[in-house]
Amino acid sequence: MIYAVLFLTNNAIQGRRLMQLRDGLMEAGRKSYATLSDSISNIAVARQYNGYDFLLSRYRAVLDEDRHAQGRYWAVSLQMQIINALLFVGFFGVSFGVALYGVVHGERSVGSMVLVGAYTLTLLAPIEGLGNMLTEITQSLRTFGVFMDKLESVRPSSRRHAEVVPMSSFQPAIEFDDVSLIYPGATVPALRGISFSIAPGQQVVITGPSGAGKTSIIKALTRQYSPGTGSIRLFGQDIATIDVRTLSDRVGYVSQEVLILKDTLRFNLKIARAEASDEEILHSLEKAGLGDLVPSLPAGLDTILGNRGATLSGGQRQRLALARLFLRKPDVVVIDEGTAALDIVTEQRVLEECLTTFDGKTIVIVTHRPSAMVLGDTLIVVQDGRVEDSGKHDELRSRNGFLSRVLSGAAS
Ligand SMILES: Nc1ncnc2c1ncn2[C@@H]1O[C@H](COP(=O)(O)OP(=O)(O)OP(=O)(O)O)[C@@H](O)[C@H]1O
Ligand SMILES: [Mg+2]
Repeated sequence: MIYAVLFLTNNAIQGRRLMQLRDGLMEAGRKSYATLSDSISNIAVARQYNGYDFLLSRYRAVLDEDRHAQGRYWAVSLQMQIINALLFVGFFGVSFGVALYGVVHGERSVGSMVLVGAYTLTLLAPIEGLGNMLTEITQSLRTFGVFMDKLESVRPSSRRHAEVVPMSSFQPAIEFDDVSLIYPGATVPALRGISFSIAPGQQVVITGPSGAGKTSIIKALTRQYSPGTGSIRLFGQDIATIDVRTLSDRVGYVSQEVLILKDTLRFNLKIARAEASDEEILHSLEKAGLGDLVPSLPAGLDTILGNRGATLSGGQRQRLALARLFLRKPDVVVIDEGTAALDIVTEQRVLEECLTTFDGKTIVIVTHRPSAMVLGDTLIVVQDGRVEDSGKHDELRSRNGFLSRVLSGAAS
C-alpha cells in the first residue's frame, strides 16, 4: 500500500513535468521539420545568393533547440524511472529481508520466504505497470488534444455547400463596407476602412501602388484573413456566414503567387476540378495560351512538375493558374496580377479569353498594367489601405495622380 502511494505520487509529480516538457518537445520537433521543409523548398534562394551556410546555420540552431528539448524530456523521464526502480528494489528488498530474517532465526520456513518473495513480486509488478500506463495515457491524450486542435484550426468546415449564396441580381456581387484589416503580428493596418460596391456582371480593375493593399482586399474577399472591422458581402450575403468551400466554388481566384504541387501536370490541373477529363484539361490549357506546352513535355500531361514547379517559367506558371481557373465555374472571377509575367500580346489574348469565357460574370482584375486596365468598365484606385478614387477610366485618367502617371508611363 505504502509502495503504491509513493510510486503513484512519483509518477504524478514527474508525469506533470513530463507533460510540459513533451509540449516543448513537440513544438521543437514541429519547428525543426518546418525549417527543414522551408529550406528544401527554397533552396533556390540559397543558390542564387550563395547562402547555403547561412541557411544551414539556421537549421543547426533549430536542431540544437530540438536536441535540448529532447534531452530535458528524457532526463526527467530517466529520473522518474530511477526513482521507481529504487522504490521497487527498496520495498522488495525490505519484505524479502524481513522474510529472510525470519528464516535465519527459525521463525519461518524457506517455503514461506519464497512465498513472500513471489507475492511481493506479483503485487509490485501490476502497480508499476498501472503507473507507467497512466503516465503514458495522460501524455498521449494531451498530444492527441494538441493535434486535434491544430487540425480543427486548419480544416475547412465539412458542411460542403451548406449555404447557398442567393444569386439576386438586385444585390451587389461584391460589397465592402468599411473594411479594415491588420495582419497578425503587424502594427500598421493593411486596409483602413475600404468601401466599394461591384454590380453583378461588372468588370472592375483594382489598381494602386505596390503595397497599397490590393492583394489584401482579395485575401479578405476570399476569407484568407478576416477583417478587423466592417463587413464583406457576396450577392448580399455576409461572407463570414458562407462556408469556405462554397466560397471557393463561387469565387474563382488567380493569386499573385502560383502554387504548384510536386506531381503531374494533370494532377496540378485536376486540383481545380477533380472530375475534369483530359480533353477539358487540354482545352483549358489552350485557352490559357499553353496549348504548345503539353506536346513539348517528355510525358505530356503525366510529366511531373519539379519542386514548386521549377520546370515551368514564371509566365507558364501564371498561365497554368489561369488554366485552373478555366476549369472552374465561378460566379465571380478575381485575377490578382495573374498576367504580369506575360508579354503584353499574350496578356491581352489571355485576358480577352477570360472575358469571353466568363461573359456575364463579375470580373475583378488587379493590375498595374495600362494595357490590362482598359479591360475594366470601372477602376478602383487603392492607396495606403484606402480607396483613393473610383470611376470610369476616362474620368480618372485626368483627375487621379497615380493613374495619370501610370498611363503616361512615369510610374511603375
Ligand atoms: N501576410 C502578411 N503579414 C503582414 N503584413 C502583410 C502581409 N501581407 C501583406 N502585408 C502588408 O500589407 C500591406 C499591403 O500589402 P498587399 O499585398 O495588399 O499590397 P499590394 O497592393 O497587393 O502590393 P503589390 O502591388 O506589390 O502586390 C503591405 O504593407 C504589406 O507589407
Ligand atoms: Mg499584390
